[in-house]
Amino acid sequence: MARRKKLYEGKAKILYEGTEPGTIVQYFKDDATAFNAEKKDVIDGKGVLNNRLSEFFMTGLTQLGIPNHFIKRLNMREQLVRAVEIVPLEIIVRNVAAGSMAKRLGLEEGTPLPRPIVEFSYKDDSLGDPLVPEEYIAAFGWASQQEMDEIVSMALRVNDYLSGVMYGVGIKLVDFKIEMGRVYEGDFPRLIVADEISPDSCRLWDMETGQKLDKDVFRRDLGNLADAYTEVARRLGVMPSNVTHTPTKPTLIN
Ligand SMILES: Nc1ncnc2c1ncn2[C@@H]1O[C@H](COP(=O)(O)OP(=O)(O)OP(=O)(O)O)[C@@H](O)[C@H]1O
Ligand SMILES: [Mg+2]
Repeated sequence: MARRKKLYEGKAKILYEGTEPGTIVQYFKDDATAFNAEKKDVIDGKGVLNNRLSEFFMTGLTQLGIPNHFIKRLNMREQLVRAVEIVPLEIIVRNVAAGSMAKRLGLEEGTPLPRPIVEFSYKDDSLGDPLVPEEYIAAFGWASQQEMDEIVSMALRVNDYLSGVMYGVGIKLVDFKIEMGRVYEGDFPRLIVADEISPDSCRLWDMETGQKLDKDVFRRDLGNLADAYTEVARRLGVMPSNVTHTPTKPTLIN
Protein backbone atom coordinates (compact mmCIF):
# COMPACT_ATOMS: atom_id res chain seq x y z
CA MET A 1 0.00 0.00 0.00
CA ALA A 2 1.30 3.46 -0.88
CA ARG A 3 2.30 5.55 2.13
CA ARG A 4 -0.13 8.33 2.73
CA LYS A 5 1.05 11.85 2.28
CA LYS A 6 1.89 13.95 5.33
CA LEU A 7 0.54 17.44 4.79
CA TYR A 8 1.59 19.20 7.98
CA GLU A 9 3.02 18.49 11.39
CA GLY A 10 2.03 20.89 14.14
CA LYS A 11 2.68 20.89 17.86
CA ALA A 12 -0.26 18.65 18.78
CA LYS A 13 -1.38 16.98 15.56
CA ILE A 14 -0.19 15.63 12.24
CA LEU A 15 -2.34 16.07 9.15
CA TYR A 16 -2.34 13.41 6.42
CA GLU A 17 -4.11 13.41 3.10
CA GLY A 18 -7.52 11.82 3.56
CA THR A 19 -9.02 8.87 1.78
CA GLU A 20 -11.22 11.00 -0.44
CA PRO A 21 -10.70 14.41 -2.03
CA GLY A 22 -11.49 17.22 0.34
CA THR A 23 -10.72 15.16 3.44
CA ILE A 24 -7.83 15.13 5.89
CA VAL A 25 -6.77 12.67 8.57
CA GLN A 26 -5.91 14.31 11.89
CA TYR A 27 -3.48 12.28 14.00
CA PHE A 28 -3.46 13.37 17.65
CA LYS A 29 0.05 13.25 19.15
CA ASP A 30 0.99 12.88 22.82
CA ASP A 31 3.13 16.02 22.66
CA ALA A 32 2.21 18.85 25.00
CA THR A 33 3.58 22.34 24.48
CA ALA A 34 2.95 25.67 26.17
CA PHE A 35 4.18 29.25 26.00
CA ASN A 36 4.64 29.05 22.24
CA ALA A 37 6.51 25.71 22.53
CA GLU A 38 9.05 26.97 25.10
CA LYS A 39 7.79 24.25 27.44
CA LYS A 40 7.45 20.76 25.96
CA ASP A 41 6.78 17.24 27.13
CA VAL A 42 5.26 13.97 25.98
CA ILE A 43 2.17 12.97 27.97
CA ASP A 44 1.29 9.31 27.48
CA GLY A 45 -2.29 8.97 26.34
CA LYS A 46 -3.05 12.66 25.71
CA GLY A 47 -3.57 12.14 21.98
CA VAL A 48 -6.03 9.30 22.52
CA LEU A 49 -8.04 11.41 24.98
CA ASN A 50 -8.12 14.51 22.77
CA ASN A 51 -9.13 12.48 19.70
CA ARG A 52 -12.07 11.07 21.66
CA LEU A 53 -13.03 14.33 23.31
CA SER A 54 -12.87 16.35 20.10
CA GLU A 55 -15.08 13.72 18.44
CA PHE A 56 -17.52 14.01 21.34
CA PHE A 57 -17.77 17.82 21.21
CA MET A 58 -17.88 18.07 17.41
CA THR A 59 -20.63 15.43 17.27
CA GLY A 60 -22.57 17.45 19.84
CA LEU A 61 -22.22 20.55 17.66
CA THR A 62 -23.51 18.60 14.64
CA GLN A 63 -26.56 17.59 16.66
CA LEU A 64 -27.28 21.27 17.26
CA GLY A 65 -26.79 22.13 13.61
CA ILE A 66 -23.48 23.92 14.14
CA PRO A 67 -21.39 22.98 11.11
CA ASN A 68 -17.95 21.51 11.77
CA HIS A 69 -15.23 19.49 10.09
CA PHE A 70 -15.69 16.15 11.87
CA ILE A 71 -16.60 13.20 9.63
CA LYS A 72 -15.69 10.08 11.61
CA ARG A 73 -13.18 8.64 14.02
CA LEU A 74 -10.84 6.18 12.34
CA ASN A 75 -9.02 4.73 15.33
CA MET A 76 -7.70 5.61 18.79
CA ARG A 77 -5.58 8.48 17.55
CA GLU A 78 -7.04 9.50 14.21
CA GLN A 79 -10.15 11.11 12.83
CA LEU A 80 -11.26 11.95 9.32
CA VAL A 81 -12.26 15.59 8.84
CA ARG A 82 -13.26 17.89 6.00
CA ALA A 83 -10.32 19.86 4.66
CA VAL A 84 -10.85 23.59 5.12
CA GLU A 85 -9.04 26.80 4.35
CA ILE A 86 -8.20 27.88 7.87
CA VAL A 87 -9.09 31.46 8.83
CA PRO A 88 -5.81 32.64 10.40
CA LEU A 89 -7.42 33.54 13.72
CA GLU A 90 -7.72 31.97 17.12
CA ILE A 91 -11.27 32.67 18.19
CA ILE A 92 -11.38 32.92 21.95
CA VAL A 93 -14.54 33.00 24.05
CA ARG A 94 -14.31 33.91 27.73
CA ASN A 95 -16.89 33.55 30.49
CA VAL A 96 -14.59 34.10 33.45
CA ALA A 97 -11.34 36.11 33.60
CA ALA A 98 -8.23 33.91 33.47
CA GLY A 99 -4.90 33.56 31.72
CA SER A 100 -3.78 36.40 29.47
CA MET A 101 -6.96 38.43 30.00
CA ALA A 102 -6.63 38.40 33.78
CA LYS A 103 -3.01 39.48 33.43
CA ARG A 104 -3.70 42.20 30.87
CA LEU A 105 -6.50 43.81 32.86
CA GLY A 106 -5.16 43.10 36.34
CA LEU A 107 -8.21 41.00 37.17
CA GLU A 108 -8.13 38.19 39.67
CA GLU A 109 -8.42 34.82 37.91
CA GLY A 110 -11.93 33.54 38.46
CA THR A 111 -13.68 36.93 38.21
CA PRO A 112 -16.92 36.32 36.31
CA LEU A 113 -17.31 38.50 33.21
CA PRO A 114 -20.49 40.56 32.71
CA ARG A 115 -21.19 38.60 29.52
CA PRO A 116 -19.31 36.18 27.28
CA ILE A 117 -16.53 38.05 25.48
CA VAL A 118 -15.19 36.99 22.08
CA GLU A 119 -11.65 38.03 21.16
CA PHE A 120 -9.27 37.18 18.34
CA SER A 121 -5.61 36.52 18.01
CA TYR A 122 -3.75 36.36 14.75
CA LYS A 123 -2.38 32.86 14.16
CA ASP A 124 1.35 33.39 13.81
CA ASP A 125 3.68 31.49 16.13
CA SER A 126 6.65 33.72 15.29
CA LEU A 127 4.69 36.70 16.66
CA GLY A 128 3.27 34.73 19.59
CA ASP A 129 -0.33 34.81 18.23
CA PRO A 130 -0.97 38.50 19.07
CA LEU A 131 -4.41 39.71 20.13
CA VAL A 132 -5.93 41.74 17.28
CA PRO A 133 -8.93 44.07 17.10
CA GLU A 134 -11.71 43.29 14.59
CA GLU A 135 -10.70 46.36 12.62
CA TYR A 136 -7.39 44.68 11.67
CA ILE A 137 -9.14 41.51 10.54
CA ALA A 138 -11.20 43.16 7.83
CA ALA A 139 -8.44 45.62 6.88
CA PHE A 140 -5.84 42.90 6.32
CA GLY A 141 -8.41 40.65 4.66
CA TRP A 142 -8.08 37.72 7.10
CA ALA A 143 -11.89 37.50 7.13
CA SER A 144 -14.64 39.68 5.69
CA GLN A 145 -17.01 41.70 7.85
CA GLN A 146 -19.81 39.28 6.96
CA GLU A 147 -17.62 36.32 7.95
CA MET A 148 -16.76 38.05 11.24
CA ASP A 149 -20.44 38.38 12.11
CA GLU A 150 -20.88 34.69 11.43
CA ILE A 151 -17.74 33.76 13.36
CA VAL A 152 -18.93 35.68 16.43
CA SER A 153 -22.41 34.19 16.36
CA MET A 154 -21.09 30.66 15.82
CA ALA A 155 -18.50 31.09 18.59
CA LEU A 156 -21.26 32.15 21.01
CA ARG A 157 -23.39 29.16 20.03
CA VAL A 158 -20.41 26.88 20.63
CA ASN A 159 -20.01 28.58 24.02
CA ASP A 160 -23.66 27.91 24.92
CA TYR A 161 -23.35 24.26 23.96
CA LEU A 162 -20.00 23.65 25.66
CA SER A 163 -20.89 25.51 28.88
CA GLY A 164 -24.11 23.52 29.13
CA VAL A 165 -22.44 20.16 28.59
CA MET A 166 -19.71 20.94 31.09
CA TYR A 167 -22.13 22.38 33.67
CA GLY A 168 -24.01 19.08 33.49
CA VAL A 169 -20.92 17.23 34.71
CA GLY A 170 -19.94 19.75 37.38
CA ILE A 171 -17.32 21.63 35.36
CA LYS A 172 -17.15 25.37 34.76
CA LEU A 173 -16.19 26.43 31.22
CA VAL A 174 -13.92 29.40 31.92
CA ASP A 175 -12.83 30.01 28.32
CA PHE A 176 -11.91 28.21 25.10
CA LYS A 177 -10.32 28.72 21.72
CA ILE A 178 -11.57 27.45 18.39
CA GLU A 179 -10.49 27.74 14.78
CA MET A 180 -12.79 28.07 11.81
CA GLY A 181 -12.26 27.41 8.14
CA ARG A 182 -13.90 27.81 4.76
CA VAL A 183 -15.33 25.04 2.64
CA TYR A 184 -16.39 25.90 -0.87
CA GLU A 185 -19.71 24.96 -2.31
CA GLY A 186 -19.45 26.05 -5.90
CA ASP A 187 -17.87 29.47 -5.68
CA PHE A 188 -19.36 30.21 -2.32
CA PRO A 189 -17.36 29.83 0.88
CA ARG A 190 -19.09 28.63 4.03
CA LEU A 191 -17.56 28.71 7.50
CA ILE A 192 -17.31 25.62 9.67
CA VAL A 193 -15.69 24.88 13.02
CA ALA A 194 -12.35 23.10 12.49
CA ASP A 195 -9.17 22.05 14.34
CA GLU A 196 -10.12 20.54 17.71
CA ILE A 197 -12.15 21.09 20.85
CA SER A 198 -10.42 19.46 23.80
CA PRO A 199 -9.00 20.28 27.24
CA ASP A 200 -5.91 21.53 25.34
CA SER A 201 -7.97 24.42 24.05
CA CYS A 202 -10.38 25.08 26.96
CA ARG A 203 -10.08 26.16 30.58
CA LEU A 204 -12.14 23.79 32.69
CA TRP A 205 -12.51 24.13 36.47
CA ASP A 206 -14.26 21.70 38.76
CA MET A 207 -17.30 23.58 40.04
CA GLU A 208 -16.93 22.46 43.66
CA THR A 209 -13.20 22.36 44.26
CA GLY A 210 -11.95 24.74 41.56
CA GLN A 211 -9.49 22.03 40.48
CA LYS A 212 -8.10 22.67 37.00
CA LEU A 213 -8.86 19.96 34.43
CA ASP A 214 -7.18 21.47 31.37
CA LYS A 215 -3.80 22.35 29.89
CA ASP A 216 -3.03 24.76 32.75
CA VAL A 217 -2.18 21.59 34.72
CA PHE A 218 0.78 21.25 32.35
CA ARG A 219 1.52 25.00 31.92
CA ARG A 220 1.65 25.53 35.69
CA ASP A 221 2.96 22.11 36.82
CA LEU A 222 -0.16 21.29 38.82
CA GLY A 223 -0.06 17.51 38.47
CA ASN A 224 -0.64 14.81 35.91
CA LEU A 225 -2.22 16.15 32.72
CA ALA A 226 -3.50 12.80 31.44
CA ASP A 227 -5.24 12.22 34.80
CA ALA A 228 -7.03 15.56 34.46
CA TYR A 229 -8.15 14.85 30.87
CA THR A 230 -9.20 11.32 31.85
CA GLU A 231 -11.41 12.83 34.55
CA VAL A 232 -13.12 15.08 31.97
CA ALA A 233 -13.62 12.11 29.61
CA ARG A 234 -14.92 9.92 32.44
CA ARG A 235 -17.48 12.49 33.56
CA LEU A 236 -18.72 12.94 30.00
CA GLY A 237 -19.00 9.16 29.63
CA VAL A 238 -16.59 9.29 26.71
CA MET A 239 -14.15 6.71 28.00
CA PRO A 240 -15.27 3.60 29.86
CA SER A 241 -14.00 4.02 33.40
CA ASN A 242 -11.98 0.79 33.28
CA VAL A 243 -9.78 2.15 30.50
CA THR A 244 -6.74 3.93 31.88
CA HIS A 245 -4.31 6.04 29.94
CA THR A 246 -1.40 4.02 31.27
CA PRO A 247 0.25 2.42 28.28
CA THR A 248 1.23 -1.21 28.50
CA LYS A 249 4.95 -1.38 28.55
CA PRO A 250 7.13 -4.47 28.80
CA THR A 251 7.76 -5.20 32.47
CA LEU A 252 10.63 -7.08 33.98
CA ILE A 253 9.58 -10.09 35.99
CA ASN A 254 11.97 -11.15 38.70
N1 LIG B 1 -10.15 20.70 8.84
C1 LIG B 1 -8.94 21.23 8.69
N2 LIG B 1 -8.44 21.47 7.45
C2 LIG B 1 -7.21 22.01 7.30
N3 LIG B 1 -6.40 22.37 8.31
C3 LIG B 1 -6.85 22.17 9.55
C4 LIG B 1 -8.14 21.60 9.81
N4 LIG B 1 -8.31 21.53 11.16
C5 LIG B 1 -7.19 22.03 11.70
N5 LIG B 1 -6.30 22.42 10.77
C6 LIG B 1 -4.93 22.98 10.98
O1 LIG B 1 -4.12 21.85 11.26
C7 LIG B 1 -3.09 22.16 12.16
C8 LIG B 1 -3.22 21.23 13.35
O2 LIG B 1 -2.02 21.02 13.94
P1 LIG B 1 -1.65 21.54 15.38
O3 LIG B 1 -2.84 21.85 16.19
O4 LIG B 1 -0.65 20.59 15.94
O5 LIG B 1 -0.96 22.92 14.96
P2 LIG B 1 -0.23 23.93 15.90
O6 LIG B 1 1.12 23.47 16.29
O7 LIG B 1 -1.18 24.33 16.97
O8 LIG B 1 0.09 25.13 14.93
P3 LIG B 1 -0.74 26.15 14.16
O9 LIG B 1 -2.17 26.03 14.62
O10 LIG B 1 -0.11 27.44 14.54
O11 LIG B 1 -0.53 25.80 12.72
C9 LIG B 1 -3.28 23.62 12.52
O12 LIG B 1 -2.44 24.43 11.72
C10 LIG B 1 -4.76 23.86 12.18
O13 LIG B 1 -4.99 25.22 11.87
MG1 LIG C 1 -3.15 23.78 17.23
